[in-house]
Amino acid sequence: MTHDHRLQAVEQFYDFHPLSARQIFDAVAARGITRDDISESILQEHDQDHYGGTAAVDRLMAQAQVNSGDRVLDVCSGLGGPARYIAWKTGCHVTGLDLTASRVDGATELTAAAKLGSQVRFVHGNALAMPFPDAIFSLAIGQEAFAHIPDKPRLVGEIARVLRPGGRLVYSDILHRPGLTEVDRTRLFDGMRFSEIASVDSYSIFLRDVGLAIVRIVDLTDEWTRILVERHAMYRSLEAQTVARLGREHFERYDQAYAHFVGLYRTGMLAGALIHARKPD
Ligand SMILES: C[S@@+](CC[C@H](N)C(=O)[O-])C[C@H]1O[C@@H](n2cnc3c(N)ncnc32)[C@H](O)[C@@H]1O
Repeated sequence: MTHDHRLQAVEQFYDFHPLSARQIFDAVAARGITRDDISESILQEHDQDHYGGTAAVDRLMAQAQVNSGDRVLDVCSGLGGPARYIAWKTGCHVTGLDLTASRVDGATELTAAAKLGSQVRFVHGNALAMPFPDAIFSLAIGQEAFAHIPDKPRLVGEIARVLRPGGRLVYSDILHRPGLTEVDRTRLFDGMRFSEIASVDSYSIFLRDVGLAIVRIVDLTDEWTRILVERHAMYRSLEAQTVARLGREHFERYDQAYAHFVGLYRTGMLAGALIHARKPD
């Protein structure tokens, strides 16, 4: 399958994902909160599409030492939860880049509702060919998204290109351990749209080859295994909404794919880490 076909499959996957801007607005409305009363502190309980919610963003921010003068790029920003949270917490400017047009539209709508439009913007585009000039960001981040992207060397090359000298890359990602079979890799693409999953060792080589120096790697595997079990239960709790929005077959397919994914964490075939790298001055 070509890279273009893989990218199209990812876009379609997120067009029909159980989490959506509409589902978030509905969840907020169910709490009796009107659109006018929506704020970032309310949205952040619903809009983080990675493992560990805002606590994981806090850990990433501490690792990156984000400050108000940073120009942050959130690579694969999804519905924009982390981008809004970082801007709200620090006062810095954040640009989110995402491949899926419906995610960019949803993120923009949620950001307007949180009244953060002057600090946070979203751009539709592919992380493998970023629509940005060289050296404009001081920090690039990513959470649980790079596993969708084929050609990791090109991905980290693009990130290195748009970072200023001295800029930091801090990201968490789904990784494999020795022993992950081709059958499981194929199922992970078919069910979850994960492509060419990297390992700590392969990322170390890719980062070094584009001139980024590793500062720190934090292993998150045990924590993620616990979280993924809970997250699977959370998706199951959305069964009625997901079936109403996307149909029974879609719900069952996603549920089975997620069960396989969580099973690979339980058996130690998949791992997770927070990786901090730096572009030399
Ligand atoms: C799991 S979501 C993560 C969203 C966000 N990081 C968060 O924590 O809320 C993954 C996102 O990656 C985006 N994505 C996947 N491949 C991409 C690519 N090649 N370029 C840009 N975005 C991509 C998807 O469209 C999706 O919105």
